[in-house]
Amino acid sequence: MRLLVCGGAGFIGSTFTRQRLLEHGDEVTVLDKLTYAGREENLQDLAEHGGLRFLRGAIEDPTAVAGAIEAGTPEAIVNFAAETHVDRSITAPDAFVSTHALGTYVLLEAARSHRLRYLQVSTDEVYGSIDVGAFTEDSPLRPSSPYSATKAGADLLVQSYVHTYGLSAVICRGSNNYGPYQYPEKLIPLMILNAMHGDRLPVYGDGMQVRNWIHSTDFASAIGHVLERGAKGEVYNAGGPDEQANVEVVKRIVELTGAAEAQIEHVADRPGHDRRYALSSDKLRALGWVPRVSFADGLEQTVAWYQVNRWWWEPIRAGEYREYYERQYGRSLHS
Ligand code: NAD
Ligand code: DAU
Repeated sequence: MRLLVCGGAGFIGSTFTRQRLLEHGDEVTVLDKLTYAGREENLQDLAEHGGLRFLRGAIEDPTAVAGAIEAGTPEAIVNFAAETHVDRSITAPDAFVSTHALGTYVLLEAARSHRLRYLQVSTDEVYGSIDVGAFTEDSPLRPSSPYSATKAGADLLVQSYVHTYGLSAVICRGSNNYGPYQYPEKLIPLMILNAMHGDRLPVYGDGMQVRNWIHSTDFASAIGHVLERGAKGEVYNAGGPDEQANVEVVKRIVELTGAAEAQIEHVADRPGHDRRYALSSDKLRALGWVPRVSFADGLEQTVAWYQVNRWWWEPIRAGEYREYYERQYGRSLHS
């Protein structure tokens, strides 16, 4: 297939791009704004691959989108482009509204006028929090944060284009991803790097919030599966095989890095913090998809990746991230 992958320089978008180029022989045009979270380094190992084209541009810019379609002549658009950190959506929601609402609209219009298949990458957070059981695709949307509310809005817009214009669109909602190339504002890489540097490990509230962890290669393969086999207008959940409370995740990272448990510090809770996410993936499993990486193995591999790939995170920890960390946590990082 020839694909336009929006947000393909981010954590999951680059994983998906790698998988499609190397395992499926696709041609991929990446369109990415390169926000603080988007990095060409994430695609560095693919730079010489003849099937990859990289274009810098924003999804809310119709000229950039038209140029990417002209350059790549895609059969489908896969949209990962998003602002993705809940804490940033609480302190500065504006970019979340413009990227998720306007950006998704511009891409949908492009898909409509060129008659392209369209896949929207979405999140379990659109369903809100669940104490017991698991969300299905029919669960109501009850988002809690500006991040999840704007993602839910984008999903509704996608569905309106199916209903009104007959667009061949599908939505894939994933649970919490982890793995190589994840920007260290997120729980797992933040804790790995802080553990390695002797920094405090800031657990929000009591740390008993539960997340349904999925390795990024498994979510990428779920998206490929939905792209190839999903029925027009349908939503497919892709949840990971394991659930774990945050404080247990942090304690395991302490063990794997040889850090000290005394580094763990309970800090003020996130406002509006969702207690638990859990996704039923029965609908996607019925199409033949299975997650392959257990959380125990995946976490160990992820810690090892951050330990070895200093080239990747050293510039991040030396840059804007330090200021973000001070604003968010009220303390500075060790070097
Ligand atoms: P990320 O923050 O690592 O990457 C986002 C990418 O989008 C970056 O490369 C960034 O430069 C790009 N981008 C942002 N705004 C853009 C714009 N306006 N135009 C073009 N490019 C833009 O995010 P991620 O964790 O890889 O998430 C990718 C997608 O998967 C998002 O849609 C997110 O909502 C969804 N998702 C993430 C998770 C998770 O746990 N990380 C789970 C489920 C779903
Ligand atoms: O569920 C899917 C979502 O997972 C994605 O849609 C989002 O893009 C992604 O960021 C992620 O959202 P979360 O808010 O669940 O992930 P985060 O890594 O920010 O936090 C995971 C849990 O860890 C959450 O309960 C908050 C907690 N946490 C996080 C940070 C950064 C802490 O206790 N301390 C921290 O410093």
